[in-house]
Amino acid sequence: MAFPPSFIDDLVARNPIEDVVGQYVQLKRSGANYFGLCPFHGEKTASFSVAPNKQIYYCFGCHKGGGVINFIMEIENLSYPDAVRFLAKRVGMEVPEDEQYQSRYKAQERLWKLCREAARFFHETLMSDQGKQARQYLTQRGLSKSTVTRFGLGFAPDQWTALTDEMIRRGYTRQELMDAGLVVSREKNGKTSYYDKFRNRVMFPIIDLRGNVIAFGGRVMDDSKPKYLNSPETGIFNKRKNLFALNIAKKSKQGRIILCEGYMDTITLHQYGFDCAVASLGTALTEEQVNLLSKYTEQVVLTYDSDAAGQDATRRAIPMLEKAGIQVKILRMEGAKDPDEYLKKFGADRFAVLLQGSENQAEYRLQTLQRQYDLTSDEQKVEFLQKAAQLIATFPNAVEREVYAGRAAQAVGIGLEAMKMEVSRAYKKRTNRAERRREQQLLSPAAAIQPKVRSIRYDNVRSAAAEEGILYQVLREPALFDQAGDLTGSQFSVPVLGRAFDELRDRHERGLQVSLAVLEDFTPDELTHLSAVAQKQDALVSEAAFSDYLSVIREQSQKTQQNLSQDALMDLQARLKRKKGYGGQ
Ligand code: UTP
Ligand code: MN
Repeated sequence: MAFPPSFIDDLVARNPIEDVVGQYVQLKRSGANYFGLCPFHGEKTASFSVAPNKQIYYCFGCHKGGGVINFIMEIENLSYPDAVRFLAKRVGMEVPEDEQYQSRYKAQERLWKLCREAARFFHETLMSDQGKQARQYLTQRGLSKSTVTRFGLGFAPDQWTALTDEMIRRGYTRQELMDAGLVVSREKNGKTSYYDKFRNRVMFPIIDLRGNVIAFGGRVMDDSKPKYLNSPETGIFNKRKNLFALNIAKKSKQGRIILCEGYMDTITLHQYGFDCAVASLGTALTEEQVNLLSKYTEQVVLTYDSDAAGQDATRRAIPMLEKAGIQVKILRMEGAKDPDEYLKKFGADRFAVLLQGSENQAEYRLQTLQRQYDLTSDEQKVEFLQKAAQLIATFPNAVEREVYAGRAAQAVGIGLEAMKMEVSRAYKKRTNRAERRREQQLLSPAAAIQPKVRSIRYDNVRSAAAEEGILYQVLREPALFDQAGDLTGSQFSVPVLGRAFDELRDRHERGLQVSLAVLEDFTPDELTHLSAVAQKQDALVSEAAFSDYLSVIREQSQKTQQNLSQDALMDLQARLKRKKGYGGQ
């Protein structure tokens, strides 16, 4: 039977693959992934991987892979529906086998859709004549236009029923608007009136990990109170279980999450390049949020306000995070009360230095390295200097590279200039190598993963490599679908990759989770191959690569079309010739 897609999303979300697999395989964390001995083939070294951020498993040894449902099908030898029932039971979820449950999920999906449309309405209002003052406010707060778009900020007009009228016009009911927390009612003289909860406020949509708009925060544009209004708890919003901007920060490559107090802090941090910032939603950090964070990062930097309340919150957050195995760093700002203010006053570089200082990793790593060498021996000195230069070359900040070059030079008693040259040589070598690798990998057919399963063949490896690249990227960053233009799976040379593309795109457009873990119409072999693509090593997510891949696919598919029609033409000519030949004789 077909289960409602949002039910499957929920089921997968509530059965984290690392937990489920962890009951069968002993897993050890290594970076973003877990590794263990593969349960599907005998082995002594761990080549079985689980990627919590992608919610898939993949064995580099026997090349089996897939999502959590697929894993249960394999290991428990169950059919798809039975694996779904198995996982539902595991977490005490009711399986929507009858109409009542189906309709509950439908209602949830409708609320998501309503909130998305409301967000769009607020955003369009912000961009219209009505939003002029709000746009000025945001500009004056230092937000750029692209930041405003990125976070989908909006404006709720200064009217009692602007949103209500628009949404009712679009076919939603007042009850649904109340269920979404967007409309409130008031009793007066025995009469009930209904009006928009958010009026004359700048709107911040809160988006969950699957990309659904689930709630809003709204800020006044002056000093009136309350400063922020937030959506109440609803069927789709539980503020204890969500973090503002985690949907973006979860994809960050910065290797940490910066936790701050406010919407504005988070957004400003992102604008200044710190795309790993999130905010708790106006409450003290909860256990649920800590669990969520532990799925995406090993290090959290706390940047709560420097006032008493902020310091108190910091003290309370530390043990909670540490208990979940997260390394905690505290960032102390002087001369500003919060990151928003700090960045505007002192800029991103100073903040980056603070961030480094909060870790002091550079110092620690250099000292660790130094201890491995006996610096009274000339030979060892040279070796240390080379290693130190290589290490320092990895520090992204130029000032920092200079500072630590100085330390290393001092340690062995050579001049700063000599050491700086050594570092700069190591740095150039590194960036050159990184760039070359990127170019090569981008368009070379060799980048394609050759299918390990017999049912899939790559006839056009050049196109296949690009198709893999596209899939890899949209799985990491579904928003890239919006740049795929009119590309469809039918242009893919590998049908299974094309089908996956179409189905994932369809899910994306319906606001559902984009993940291999929720695909239904694929054979285990096909899922295995798709997982290999998703786990591709060294691949990168970039808009430039994406558009290169697009043109390769289009060009190759056109060529195939041409070849086909050429073939057809030749075939026709051959037949005509034969006919003529007969006629002539
Ligand atoms: P702050 O007062 O520090 O606000 O509250 P802020 O984020 O720095 O906002 P700006 O810079 O004044 O615009 C921190 C967070 O606490 C919640 C909000 O989530 C806010 O971002 N809050 C604050 C409320 O929910 N309601 C309020 O009235 C105030
Ligand atoms: Mn602030």
